[in-house]
Amino acid sequence: METKYLTTADEDIRTAADIIRRGGLVAFPTETVYGLGGNALNASASKAIYEAKGRPSDNPLIVHIAHAEEAGSLTDAFFGSAKTLARAIWPGPMTLVLPKLGCVPYETTGGLDTVAIRCPANEAARRLIEYSGVPIAAPSANSSGRPSPTVWQHVRDDLDGRIDAVIMGESCIGGIESTIVDMTGELPMILRPGLISPERVSEITGLPCGYDDALSDPSLAPMAPGMKYKHYAPKADMILYAGKPEAVRAAIEKDAEKLSAEGKKVAVLIYEDARTAAQRLFADLRCADREGAEIILASAFPEDTAINYSVMNRMLKSAGYNIKEV
Ligand code: TXA
Ligand code: MG
Repeated sequence: METKYLTTADEDIRTAADIIRRGGLVAFPTETVYGLGGNALNASASKAIYEAKGRPSDNPLIVHIAHAEEAGSLTDAFFGSAKTLARAIWPGPMTLVLPKLGCVPYETTGGLDTVAIRCPANEAARRLIEYSGVPIAAPSANSSGRPSPTVWQHVRDDLDGRIDAVIMGESCIGGIESTIVDMTGELPMILRPGLISPERVSEITGLPCGYDDALSDPSLAPMAPGMKYKHYAPKADMILYAGKPEAVRAAIEKDAEKLSAEGKKVAVLIYEDARTAAQRLFADLRCADREGAEIILASAFPEDTAINYSVMNRMLKSAGYNIKEV
């Protein structure tokens, strides 16, 4: 199929919305990463998303809405703390897991009786959902296993010819995927860390909020099925260096020199802070691949704040948990 490249001009977004309504797939920008969208209420559109990405079918999709109130058409549990959280943070980088209504097909939820709902902040994304007139199921718009796309060119690299259209919107300001908060239990629980911290969730709801234990214990099954899969993997081997910033920099420089002298093609990723790392990590991993790097040496962060922890969650997966203390 020939993939159409559309702008964020109103007539182009209307063309994209038509494609969604007819059961097709459109990649679009959000404030976190680019999403690959299809009509969330159409089982065959959801199946097509899995096919285009090469994604395992037990890994549920996030359903995107343009306005918080639309959550009420997907779940009958949009009240109390869930509604309070949504009101405080949406539109924004947070996804809520709630029991699903019958209109949401199991093809969209990977067979689960719950649905993950998110109202993105990106203006083009919101117009797309609004003009489509349906909620839009969208995983990150990468081929399964690859780093998530943060600019439209990443989507083209992975999915050109496999999807109907790409909206060439702005690059993603967040850079890592939304915080997923499970709201089906007595207390909110974070299933995937992101820019919205557990402290913030606690502050808004007045309830204690922690992380799914499986995030720190690989022997447990994560409650977000997608968290068990190999993710964000660059083609190169990757090593994380943990320790004091000066020591890390020195160790990376020394090892990079040694490896280069051995004829290895080395990429170095040193970040000043986790916010910058969040914005750049996925693009830098893709860049290292494009340049044919065989080994990536990257600085790690102490996991002492929510943002550091969220970035390390991605970096550890990219590096296959290969971490060196210096
Ligand atoms: O920022 C984001 O959330 C981006 C943009 C496009 O919105 N989307 C995204 O989707 O990261 P994806 O498919 O790459 O990740 C979705 C995650 C997976 O780990 C999946 O298992 C989890 O959400 N998930 C979806 N529905 C769920 C549910 N009902 N219960 C638990 N986890 C769920
Ligand atoms: Mg993804």
